[in-house]
Amino acid sequence: MSVTEPSPRNKQLPARMVVDKATLYYNTKSGPLHALDNVSLDVRDGEFLCIIGPSGCGKTTLLWSMAGLIKLTDGAISLDGERIVKPNPHIAMIFQDANLLPWRTVERNIQLPFELKRKAPDRQRINGLLDRVGLAGFNDKYPRELSGGMQQRASIVRSLAADPSVLLMDEPFGALDAFTRDEMNLLIQEIWMETGKTIAFVTHSIPEAIFLADRIIVMSARPGRIAAIVDVDLPRPRPIEIQTEPEFIARVMDIKMKIDSQRGGTRADHSMIG
Ligand SMILES: Nc1ncnc2c1ncn2[C@@H]1O[C@H](COP(=O)(O)OP(=O)(O)OP(=O)(O)O)[C@@H](O)[C@H]1O
Ligand SMILES: [Mg+2]
Repeated sequence: MSVTEPSPRNKQLPARMVVDKATLYYNTKSGPLHALDNVSLDVRDGEFLCIIGPSGCGKTTLLWSMAGLIKLTDGAISLDGERIVKPNPHIAMIFQDANLLPWRTVERNIQLPFELKRKAPDRQRINGLLDRVGLAGFNDKYPRELSGGMQQRASIVRSLAADPSVLLMDEPFGALDAFTRDEMNLLIQEIWMETGKTIAFVTHSIPEAIFLADRIIVMSARPGRIAAIVDVDLPRPRPIEIQTEPEFIARVMDIKMKIDSQRGGTRADHSMIG
């Protein structure tokens, strides 16, 4: 592997978000469903944290709790020492689906959060961000006129427009084809390196997690617990081709084994290594 210099991100950084013994039960018709069990983790200032684990292990539940969108049964989550109990303007969420309103143009979709808060949108910032993600001049297009990748770029701009300090991303590129996904991974790495945002990023894909992360949280099958925390000390910026290097593949297999061992020997599904 062509290691040039160690990533400066690897040094210990102070915690921005603290998840402290988070436990969550959903109330369902057939009784309480144990989704999260005693999850404790820090998201450090400016770090790229990836969260990985089998389907249904509680990754979305954890992220939604961190966004203040669902209430924990027990435990606490805080941002800069302030308890998160409702959505917080410093925390933005990006979902797998771009969630653009089809009857609004790109620009008016991006302006929507400002309208809801009765704040004037920062049009200069929005145009700068559209330019940054390769959507300059697409302001007046409708979502149906954009590809899936372009729609997701627009949703990233919508999230960054209000300049949040923390981005919570829930499998944001999971629905995209492999090439577009590579492009988006490069783009989000660049944006993160330029802006210094703190990112917690959920993914099913072990290579995506290793490509993006400073640290990877590996969760167990439901109820979600932390099974392992893995440092990724690869230098940045990481090129897409890094994924074909033997050391990268060895890291993929290591995490796959950690996930398999959590499942009592059953093997991680194929989608996690693709
Ligand atoms: N609103 C809800 N009410 C009841 N149960 C729920 C609710 N949301 C999620 N669950 C259950 O909680 C568990 C965790 O779900 P969650 O969506 O957090 O998993 P996940 O790790 O994000 O899965 P995936 O990788 O498939 O997105 C699952 O068993 C799911 O069926
Ligand atoms: Mg999910």
